[in-house]
Amino acid sequence: MKVDFLDLKMKNPIMAAAGPWSRDGESIRNLLRAGAGAVVTESVVSDTLLDVRPRIAYDGRGAQNIRLYSDIQIEGWEREMEIAKSADGIVIANVSAHTPSELAYLAAKLEKFGADAVEISVSNPMWEALEVMASDAEVIYNITKEVVSNVKIPVLVKLSQNTTNITAIARAVKQAGGSGVSAINTIRCILGVDIETGLPSLATYGGYSGAPIRPLGLASVAAIAQTVDIPICGIGGIEDYRNVIEYLMLGASAVQMGTAIMIHGPAILTKATEELERWMEAKKIDSISQIRGEALKNLKSFDEMKIEPATSTSSGAPCTVDCSKCIEACMYHAIVKRDEKIEVNKEACTGCGLCTCICPAKKLTLDW
Ligand SMILES: Cc1cc2nc3c(=O)[nH]c(=O)nc-3n(C[C@H](O)[C@H](O)[C@H](O)COP(=O)(O)O)c2cc1C
Ligand code: SF4
Ligand code: SF4
Repeated sequence: MKVDFLDLKMKNPIMAAAGPWSRDGESIRNLLRAGAGAVVTESVVSDTLLDVRPRIAYDGRGAQNIRLYSDIQIEGWEREMEIAKSADGIVIANVSAHTPSELAYLAAKLEKFGADAVEISVSNPMWEALEVMASDAEVIYNITKEVVSNVKIPVLVKLSQNTTNITAIARAVKQAGGSGVSAINTIRCILGVDIETGLPSLATYGGYSGAPIRPLGLASVAAIAQTVDIPICGIGGIEDYRNVIEYLMLGASAVQMGTAIMIHGPAILTKATEELERWMEAKKIDSISQIRGEALKNLKSFDEMKIEPATSTSSGAPCTVDCSKCIEACMYHAIVKRDEKIEVNKEACTGCGLCTCICPAKKLTLDW
């Protein structure tokens, strides 16, 4: 389970992401003791603000938050780092600001306070000017270069998914001497609207996180891994060890968990590390590097796909379940249920694959 990520010797690849669960020394120490391979601090800034409230909405699947950053002044982080480091674990200082010099100043201070690495966050969707910066490869290059030249510890840059070309941004980080990238931060959202009162979930646009953003995080990590040779820390919607493996198989070297810790507490991180270890033992996998990128070889660009007449059809099975989900979902009207048997009309089936995902009893398979 050990991972050498950016030369940081981590006991496992699962870190706690930046957020209020890592807002001070005590919270960081608790996460390290819960088994985190490393903990990233909540974003440290040069001018803190009081909190708005309410600032978190959650609908049982995903969360919207409008918390900007740490409310502890940079000088206060000297004491917090001391407390955090007393757990003898790896602490990555997350810094956020608008200018290269401000970021370099914060990063150098936190290095002095004991941070093992720096993560530059240029991707907070509530901070609108940052969102613009997050999409500008030249700005990211300049920011990274300035921070890298002011610290000796590794520098990670945390990227936004709200950009047209995340791989160009990752390339800029590499060219500027950054040690790695983290992907992804939260995504600009409105969780919902109360249709009785007309009130949006929170009073302003926020960052979307949790399980619903996992597919976006996975795609971002895979896209970077396929085009830029740089260590990646995968983030977004990780809830258990399976999600960790998904990110690793798509090219991440380590991962971070955020919302799952916020909702379930640090025990969910402990569970994920233990289950990952058991899974690796059962599969006789000694090192994370054996699975890293495993899924990338099965991932083509759309242009590489062969577009041809349907050569695959679904086939059914006896089904006594009181259900007609597959019949309703088949847009090609290819499925009927006769005498407790699901029949797929091979002429009508176009092999789209939907019924195989929809069947709760996994009775349908796609024959290639
Ligand atoms: C309440 C909350 C506060 C967050 N604060 C920060 C922050 O201070 N700095 C930062 O870089 N990311 C912050 N994030 C983003 C997370 O670190 C993470 O990138 C994102 O939530 C996606 O991962 P998840 O789906 O596992 O939560 C925050 C997320 C949440 C939910
Ligand atoms: S694979 Fe698609 S077209 Fe074929 S039966 Fe299933 S849902 Fe219908
Ligand atoms: S979706 Fe599955 S369980 Fe439901 S009717 Fe179709 S085959 Fe049976």
